Amino acid sequence: MTDEDELDRLLDKLTLRSRVRLLTGATTWRTAAQPDLGLGQLVLSDGPAGVRGEGWDERATSVLLPSASALAATWDERLVEELGGLLASEARRKGVHVVLAPHLNLHRTPLAGRHFECFSEDPLLTGRMGAALIRGVQAHGVAATAKHFVANDAETDRLTVDARIDERTLREVHLAPFEAAVRAGVRLVMAGYNQVNGTTMTAHPLLTAPLKSEWGFDGVVVSDWGAVRGTRDTARAGLDLEMPGPAGEWGEALVRAVEAGDIGEPAVDDKVRRLLRLAAWCGVLGRPHRPARPHLPSRRARALTRRAVAAGAVLLANRDVLPLDPTRLRTIAVIGAPAARTRTQGGGSAGVFPQDEVSILDGLRAGLRGRARVVHVPGPAPDGPPPPVDMVLGSDPRTTLPGVLLRVLDASGTELCAEHRRSGRQLEPPVPAGAHTVEISARLHPRISGAWRIGLAGFGRLSLHLDGRPLLDGEFATSTDDPAVIHVSPPTQTVTAQLTAGTTPLLVARRELAPGTGRATVVGAAPPGPDAPAALASAFRAAREADAAVVVVGTGEQHESEGRDRKHLALGPGQDALVRAVARANPHTVAVVNSGGPVELPWRDEVGALLLAWFPGQEGGGGLADVLLGRTEPGGRLPTTWPARLADAPVTRTRPEAGRLRYEEGLHIGHRGWLRAARTPAYWFGHGLGYTTWAYEELSGPAEPVAGEDVTVTVRLRNTGSRAGREVVQVYLARRAPTAVEYPERWLAGWTAVRARPGESVVARVRIPARGLSHWDVRAGDWRTEPGPCRVLAGRSAGELPLTLEVQVRERT
Ligand code: BGC
Repeated sequence: MTDEDELDRLLDKLTLRSRVRLLTGATTWRTAAQPDLGLGQLVLSDGPAGVRGEGWDERATSVLLPSASALAATWDERLVEELGGLLASEARRKGVHVVLAPHLNLHRTPLAGRHFECFSEDPLLTGRMGAALIRGVQAHGVAATAKHFVANDAETDRLTVDARIDERTLREVHLAPFEAAVRAGVRLVMAGYNQVNGTTMTAHPLLTAPLKSEWGFDGVVVSDWGAVRGTRDTARAGLDLEMPGPAGEWGEALVRAVEAGDIGEPAVDDKVRRLLRLAAWCGVLGRPHRPARPHLPSRRARALTRRAVAAGAVLLANRDVLPLDPTRLRTIAVIGAPAARTRTQGGGSAGVFPQDEVSILDGLRAGLRGRARVVHVPGPAPDGPPPPVDMVLGSDPRTTLPGVLLRVLDASGTELCAEHRRSGRQLEPPVPAGAHTVEISARLHPRISGAWRIGLAGFGRLSLHLDGRPLLDGEFATSTDDPAVIHVSPPTQTVTAQLTAGTTPLLVARRELAPGTGRATVVGAAPPGPDAPAALASAFRAAREADAAVVVVGTGEQHESEGRDRKHLALGPGQDALVRAVARANPHTVAVVNSGGPVELPWRDEVGALLLAWFPGQEGGGGLADVLLGRTEPGGRLPTTWPARLADAPVTRTRPEAGRLRYEEGLHIGHRGWLRAARTPAYWFGHGLGYTTWAYEELSGPAEPVAGEDVTVTVRLRNTGSRAGREVVQVYLARRAPTAVEYPERWLAGWTAVRARPGESVVARVRIPARGLSHWDVRAGDWRTEPGPCRVLAGRSAGELPLTLEVQVRERT
């Protein structure tokens, strides 16, 4: 009997009601079990930066990888596949069967709140990176999820926004990465919250065609969390699994719709069959269920994550300052708040509690131990919400252990449960029967006297007391339906309070639980910073007295997060002034940018070197120190074009008009849009320097490629520097006007990486898939390749392509 016959046999054993029951989650992160069939629960958990496991609990730590934008910057599929393997081992450790990654939406606008979580602006780069991650995860028996199908490229009104996209753009740009994911064998596809051309994605015909029919996807289409809003339309469409549960739009309503003949039983059976197929693949059907492997991630995992940091770090400019020579350094000034508190991940559902985090300052200290003096100056205090009370600032008033005390109280104030916790950020506190109030309290141990900022995040009735004195008491109404905002990153109410070093005041934060206000309660505190002129003056002094300066700037928690888009790309006057002051003080200044996506760098020509760290994950500091100190090359190349000013970017609108967001740029996303508008960005897609130099010498390939066939071109290049290095050789295509159909000015068609020793010449063989030469013919409903002249360009970025080759595309005979 084939596996499929076996699935049918199991299906036959189920009543309609029990079949339908399986199609909605049993909990927030689990599917329903059917013990008499031998079907266990599937556990799903967010990625992509790490595997959180079920629930949000700071005690259940995870390995935190660099953000997806950093992974794409590696342009290294083998490495991304290895990292996928690491995610799988994390999933196994935590008993997770399905990882909710990769995120395959595109960098359409630099303002997108989840920019950091997406790979790139380019459909080919995104598709290849996504496929690599999927292969890596699934090679270990853990299922991956391609999300969010499709065109969920910004956050503003994301639950309702209607993306208006023409068919050709959908096919060539936005669906293309999902098609690559399906070809890589992805087991789940997540239908997004948004609408496309008037239909919400959980009920969209695209789930059937092309996804299931044309591409042959035989896995499960799962809804984004809470994205199912109707019964019949979603059940008739290709959606298979509604999450979360147990409440939802399907259940009894779907049973009734089937009984009334509105939905055919075969449609339900197809969904159940897909779910059973997935369960069988994940090992929760039939055989003894796969045990969790509770081992802690190994040293190898840390080494791999650290390697990924360096491989994705993008060196944008270098005026002979990097690498720093540790044998010549006596003192190095490390400046900026994010140097000591490096932001390792973006905000939202992808967040995990990392095992530990190596800041850039710690990484440099470790790298220079015994060799050079490392001086840290924090610079101006960061804005944004105060960071959660942690094990350094707080102690549990009951046990005196470092951290906080979490209590849940009933309406009369009686304690229902109490736990010692490590952090003031509590997203899923226990909710026993009768729970009325969540309370987080801590004795604070300030080391600085002055006006501290105290913050409390959450919706509903909030109060803050310091030594019994009220600091805040009020009702803060829910402003959105977005689960990522309600449950993960609600807004913060901030007050100031005078704290005195050496005292241990008691801070008590309370939030009343009420329907619709979510679970999150976060209490934070930030010390007073020096005033801005004093901070700049001490940074200037430290930089002047050092042999080199590393100044770290970046975006705050409030800027790059799921649930909201950014309003601007500025780092702010404080950080810009800081870089300028440091660069003025010391020509050997390296500016390190700690952000997940583009920011404006108005001082970029004033610094000695400019390095993008991204959100580098838990091993960020070690990996960046490896790059700064020359132990390894910066491997990264930009996965997205960086504007000098936001206003120059081809797409800056994230706010829908009358509910609609028009993808007016059509095919011309990212660098294609910049080229079409004849605008020059600060840095082109694909740009990034290593520690050696390259001469591109010759491009050759077939003079007459045949429509519908792959083409391989070869690029000869030579390492002209004094160090061995790796180069990402990029190949773009352009059609010569006039053409019968519209094309982008040029587009990425393939790439490969080569390595060479100093002086060595190497040949890169770059495969251009047949699809690279074709377009989606709307009338024919198929891919077509126009015969005629075509230009092949090779080089190191979309803006630096020294080699060209003219070819004639021939019709297939
Ligand atoms: C996000 C998804 C995520 C899901 C579960 C949603 O709000 O859009 O990416 O997988 O929540 O956390």
